[in-house]
Amino acid sequence: MDIDQRYAYEAEEPRPEEPAADESVPGKSVPDASAADEARIMQLAAGGGFARALAVAARLGIADILDGGRLPYHEIAARGGADPDVTRRLMETLTLCGVFERDACGDYGLAAAFARLRGSHPRSLRNFCVLMAETYDDAFAGLPHTVATGESGFERVFGKPLYAYLAGDPEAERVFDAAMAELARPVVAELARRADFGTVRRVIDIGGGDGTVLAGVLAAHPLLEGVCVDRPSVCERARARLRAGAGERPADGRLAFRPADIFAEVPAGGDRYLLKNVLHDWDAERRLRILTVVREAMLRTEATRATPRLLIVEPLQESDADGAHTLFQMVMCGKDTELFTGPEMHKLVQTAGFTLLSAERLAGGHHVFECVAVAS
Ligand SMILES: C[S@@+](CC[C@H](N)C(=O)[O-])C[C@H]1O[C@@H](n2cnc3c(N)ncnc32)[C@H](O)[C@@H]1O
Repeated sequence: MDIDQRYAYEAEEPRPEEPAADESVPGKSVPDASAADEARIMQLAAGGGFARALAVAARLGIADILDGGRLPYHEIAARGGADPDVTRRLMETLTLCGVFERDACGDYGLAAAFARLRGSHPRSLRNFCVLMAETYDDAFAGLPHTVATGESGFERVFGKPLYAYLAGDPEAERVFDAAMAELARPVVAELARRADFGTVRRVIDIGGGDGTVLAGVLAAHPLLEGVCVDRPSVCERARARLRAGAGERPADGRLAFRPADIFAEVPAGGDRYLLKNVLHDWDAERRLRILTVVREAMLRTEATRATPRLLIVEPLQESDADGAHTLFQMVMCGKDTELFTGPEMHKLVQTAGFTLLSAERLAGGHHVFECVAVAS
């Protein structure tokens, strides 16, 4: 970074605007931006570098290395396997942002507000920080292409769509799956409280990632079993974690992983089907295709047990404040994949052959649409 970051982060009290010379007109003065305005611009412009610095700290596991205490920079570097001089500058940079605190002896500790950088925190955001500053930020190099054409910037940069790319880069995919799990945890807690799960036997989570959503629901309902359907590489890694007893996975055989391409097949036999944060990744035609495959599986199920239900869980476009999320989605997957509005979701489920039973907004902002398949 090429700017004085201390200046950028130590925003001064707003000062009255001072006239500054307009160099194009001799003797003429125009109002200059206040120092605070200038600092805000510089802070935003340098944001990418700070996000990368945060991600490097997350990758090195510095928050876990500190383990609630304080250490000198050279000890942090030694434990993280990093260069001590650069680690010192990294710590100073992130101290400016409020991530770390430096005491009078020069030792660093993690600021309380950044406790979620620890991988061991139950609401950790460690992998999310890495995903945002690495794969997603790389994809944002394609933003000009998305703005000009409406096409995915991700594809422009990586030469293939998001999931095809992840399938060929196990480390990027591991971070992606773990970041999705981190984002899902607050939603799972609310979803699992839905009393409805207590009356049924089997939940099938379609595009369920590493199984975090199912694991949370199963933990709250001890008689329930779950099948997590996802791409083969995702299921393979998740199974290995389950075998290793990692995370909060139930080790009692109630959670299974089923590799499948959800555009082609979804298993029958579920009492509840879950589709969380899956549909918005795709254009209208492919959203409809996924729902058609799910509906066929549900209709096959009805022949053998009580009518299954589908729970679609999605963040919606509710206000202009969701514009940033939508832009982000467009860069990753193209313009046709922007977030749904409520009426768009109603129309989609009807077109796909479902009857909408209820729509509910969860406290965290996701919406749950409960549907049954209509036989044609
Ligand atoms: C945005 S993530 C959501 C994960 C999880 N449902 C959650 O909410 O945390 C979308 C998921 O869809 C999966 N997926 C994408 N294409 C797929 C396909 N063709 N077949 C199966 N799963 C797929 C991805 O691997 C990923 O786990």
